[in-house]
Amino acid sequence: MGCVTDKSFYDRVGGADTFHRLVHEFYKGVADDPPLRELYPEEDLGPAEDRLRMFLEQYWGGPKTYQEQRGHPRLRMRHFEFRVTPLQRDRWVHHMMNACDTLGLPPEDDEVLREYLVRAAEFMINADD
Ligand code: HEM
Repeated sequence: MGCVTDKSFYDRVGGADTFHRLVHEFYKGVADDPPLRELYPEEDLGPAEDRLRMFLEQYWGGPKTYQEQRGHPRLRMRHFEFRVTPLQRDRWVHHMMNACDTLGLPPEDDEVLREYLVRAAEFMINADD
């Protein structure tokens, strides 16, 4: 109902700019990490970057572009075609934490974001090392 305290996490942490920076930094890490990079089917990481960014923006209360373009996320299912092992999860989380470092968010927001990413990554594991 338009009260300032209802502002979404998306808006509070800086909106589109913050999510662009987060996901762009993350994919720079992926690009330089051959074992993780091998999982990504496309030669150009740009489209994958857009999909992850749109998903995270939507999840945190931003635009619903992900849903419009990709439908229901069903993320665990969409990852079945990739071997997400505990080690690959560690790599993914490592690059995400590095990307979080670059945002300089206030501690409470920073913690909320990191905890979500770690938990979501755990959920995506679908194979053994
Ligand atoms: C745990 C380690 C993870 C690995 C190794 C991994 C790997 C991948 C790969 C290889 C793709 C295909 C890239 C593409 O073409 O879009 C993908 C897609 C995607 N991943 Fe992950 N992922 C992980 C965790 C996560 C987590 C935690 C999230 C969400 C918080 C996530 C969100 C997405 C999204 C939104 C897509 C695009 C789905 C679509 O619309 O097709 N991933 N991931």
